[in-house]
Amino acid sequence: MKGTTPEGARTEREAAQWVRGMFGRVAHRYDFANHLLSFNMDVLWRARTVRCVRHILARPDARVLDICCGTADLTLALARNAAGHVAGSDFCHPMLVEAKNKIAKRGARTPVFEADAMRLPLRDGSFDLITVAFGFRNLANYADGLAEMRRVLRPGGRLLVLEFSRVWEPLSRFYDAYSFRVLPWLGARVAGDAASYRYLAESIRVHPPQAELAAMMERAGLEKVEWFNLSAGVCALHVGHRF
Ligand SMILES: C[S@@+](CC[C@H](N)C(=O)[O-])C[C@H]1O[C@@H](n2cnc3c(N)ncnc32)[C@H](O)[C@@H]1O
Repeated sequence: MKGTTPEGARTEREAAQWVRGMFGRVAHRYDFANHLLSFNMDVLWRARTVRCVRHILARPDARVLDICCGTADLTLALARNAAGHVAGSDFCHPMLVEAKNKIAKRGARTPVFEADAMRLPLRDGSFDLITVAFGFRNLANYADGLAEMRRVLRPGGRLLVLEFSRVWEPLSRFYDAYSFRVLPWLGARVAGDAASYRYLAESIRVHPPQAELAAMMERAGLEKVEWFNLSAGVCALHVGHRF
């Protein structure tokens, strides 16, 4: 299934370039805008994600990769709770610069590297856990992205996708008003880029709802797929296993 198609992008390559450029423009304000626009809920959503895999993180031999890591908030939360190896990857250089500064400031040693999630420079079956937080929605092709994540997971491994999702119906009118009016307005003031925050709202609207994403994960060969709604479905945490 095709993934995100920002306005004007004719090919998957162009869509990916647009996404990379957009995150490059907002990187310096990304964390601030994120916490403000989500009322700091993003911190709780990432904490919930970490709780879900505590037993894997407790293993000293566990290898964990947080793809589309951006400024490394989830990467660092995973690393803080991990006995084994945790790394992050992203294809947007300015986001990784922010990530590296944050990692250094916290005195952590978590490695992050530049890589396209659609073509990870990693061996088959090399990770026990792959996480992707708020990055899946931005991929130019969801099915190919999931196939790549499955390839890199070792048998017995797990994939966690934390993503905006379909909000509980009675709240949808308020949520849409917030997404399409308040978000671009605030985005323009906080990150200096209304277009990026309009894209954010539109990409959330077209992103597959919970059951559809679960079905896509199953088609990609992941098993025992389940999901947990967070904040009435504003986000969902999908979990799939590779056997
Ligand atoms: C909304 S940010 C999320 C960052 C971080 N995971 C978080 O929770 O805050 C999405 C990130 O996905 C990255 N991204 C999007 N498409 C990508 C791709 N094909 N390969 C690697 N990174 C990608 C962007 O560069 C951006 O840093």
